[in-house]
Amino acid sequence: MEHSKTGTRELVIKTAIKVYDSPASMTQADQKLLAEAKAAMEDSYSPYSQFKVGAAILLDNGIILRGSNQENAAYTMCICAERVALATADSQFQGVPVVAIAVTATSKNHALNKPISPCGACRQSIAEAEYKHNTKMKIIMQGETGEVYEVRSGMDLLPLGFDGSVL
Ligand code: THU
Repeated sequence: MEHSKTGTRELVIKTAIKVYDSPASMTQADQKLLAEAKAAMEDSYSPYSQFKVGAAILLDNGIILRGSNQENAAYTMCICAERVALATADSQFQGVPVVAIAVTATSKNHALNKPISPCGACRQSIAEAEYKHNTKMKIIMQGETGEVYEVRSGMDLLPLGFDGSVL
């Protein structure tokens, strides 16, 4: 933190992203979660974007839940895979923290060989899940192939995010 003579200062927020060359370098548990996210893509309904997204979340009680993107001809109603999975947790396992989420995707239009990361709305939902339980959610991200990115918390992807503590 630098203090200047002008009464201003700069805050620098750093995010550490762990990069795995491939899923094979990850723990068995994380490989399983990513494999569940890949399987979830099969249930994607994405005729408009041709972009299938799969998410899998690991609950604190060991249960894994899947979610996939569900689109609508009225585009604004499309729901992301991450929020489908998180809403399933909220509605079926109220009170159980989510400890990890894996996200992956495939496109009909091009090869996806770099990780995809949750959109802004999904980051806000991940933040809410963390805030609600006062826990951190590991986020595992991969494209169809290639490196895997991992961050320790939704806060790593949403610095200076809005949460209920200010209300
Ligand atoms: N999508 C997700 O499912 N998750 C994200 O984090 C980003 C975008 C979906 C929404 C839509 O069905 C398609 O990907 C293209 O935006």
